[in-house]
Amino acid sequence: MTAASAVTVKKQHLIDPEICIRCNTCEESCPIDAITHDVNNYVVDDSICNDCMACVPPCPTGAIDNWIQVLSTNTYSVEEQFTWNELPEPQEVPEGVAQDMSEPVEVVPAEALSADEAALTNVANTPFTAAGASIPPWSAAHPYVNWYTHKNPVSATVVGNYRVTDSDTESDIHHIVLDFGDNPMPVLEGQSIAIFPPGNDANGRAHHARQYSIASPRDGERPGYNNLSITVKRVRAGHDSNPVDGVCSNYLCDLQKNDVVKVIGPFGSSFLMPNQPDANIVMICTGTGAAPMRAMTERCRRLTKENKFNGTLMLFFGARTERELPYFGPLMNLPKDFIDVNLALSRSADKPKKYVQDLIRERAHDVMNLLKDSKTCVYVCGLKGMEEGVLSALKDIVTESGRNWEDMHAELKAKGRLHFETY
Ligand code: FAD
Ligand code: A2P
Repeated sequence: MTAASAVTVKKQHLIDPEICIRCNTCEESCPIDAITHDVNNYVVDDSICNDCMACVPPCPTGAIDNWIQVLSTNTYSVEEQFTWNELPEPQEVPEGVAQDMSEPVEVVPAEALSADEAALTNVANTPFTAAGASIPPWSAAHPYVNWYTHKNPVSATVVGNYRVTDSDTESDIHHIVLDFGDNPMPVLEGQSIAIFPPGNDANGRAHHARQYSIASPRDGERPGYNNLSITVKRVRAGHDSNPVDGVCSNYLCDLQKNDVVKVIGPFGSSFLMPNQPDANIVMICTGTGAAPMRAMTERCRRLTKENKFNGTLMLFFGARTERELPYFGPLMNLPKDFIDVNLALSRSADKPKKYVQDLIRERAHDVMNLLKDSKTCVYVCGLKGMEEGVLSALKDIVTESGRNWEDMHAELKAKGRLHFETY
């Protein structure tokens, strides 16, 4: 066999750097750690990827959904992909080189499989090991996604921008209202949009869009208006606590009334609220993770006024202090018989340090009663770090009630009743 005849043509799984909004969803959903990133790009390691497709449905933009023709001797390394600003053209195939005709494996949601079937597929463990569901609750309204894309963004006008944490605190969180004029922007509570900050990064490439959860209900921040709100924290330090001014969050927090922003989306098809009037919603959030909870709560509040909602709402909200808790005033004004509010304050001078998971444990009996009810959906949003703590608290209270956590966790995911959005 000559060296030339050993060459084949294959489709290499690649991520489009022009469309990717660097939301980390693909890296999280890859069951075999084939996806990685640097400051520039998210990339797929061809030596690890087995084309299982687990990363494809969760990607909000479709940037993940690219298979480019390459020669088996000339696949793109991770390092090479880190330098890209756009995807390469398919490689030319010399005459006589064999095609690899195999297609990527089609994804079957593991929830739809029996344990035996799941064990036989290469996606078997993906959604079972993920913390939350990849499908919405059965009664959720049908979402529109990717209405506006990287190549077709929409402009929105800033009609409000004000701080929702006390002015002398470190946490600078803004409530920003965007109006879409006569451009349709169909959204549901729990979805997000992404916004392009102006300018270029250190490599001279246009900044990529950043994702923000929608903080208003489907019928608008102001009912009947074509507007929506987002809740943005000004990033002044990185996850490593080193000082750095976040590009997009600072741009957004500094916006003035009548400024115009470039938006894509909406994104998200599973973190959606149930639509039946007697649903129960357990909301667990920290910081700006309050955004989707505000959207859902306000939706229920408007429906309640029309006698169209009579379910139970329970909120666990974590912040450093009351003064650093976004929307503290309006939240405390909500009637106690409408929503059961539990504040976990970690740096309050006169209260012991609490995290949301501590309060979930303290309210174990009531949380368990809700979890047992098939009409209850649970939403977790905010700091990535709380995911583990919340899951562990849920596991403890379920186990202590005499139930099997693995079974209940699988059931909650299979029925679209447990959702995480952490960043
Ligand atoms: P960058 O310039 O991108 O990053 C600067 C530095 O800050 C980097 O070192 C980076 O690692 C670090 N960093 C990035 N994000 C954070 C953060 N959140 N906290 C601390 N350090 C950070 N943000 C909101 O404020 N409100 C939301 O409702 C919201 N919803 C989101 C929903 C989803 C699904 C996702 C994936 C993210 C969401 N984010 C939200 C985060 C948001 O997309 C940006 O990542 C964030 O605003 C920082 O962007 P930046 O351009 O200011 O920082
Ligand atoms: P902490 O005081 O320990 O930082 P932030 O203000 O940084 O957005 O955080 C919001 C809240 O989430 C704070 O009270 C913070 O507490 C808390 N928090 C930090 N880490 C976790 C975690 N692993 N689980 C739950 N809450 C957390």
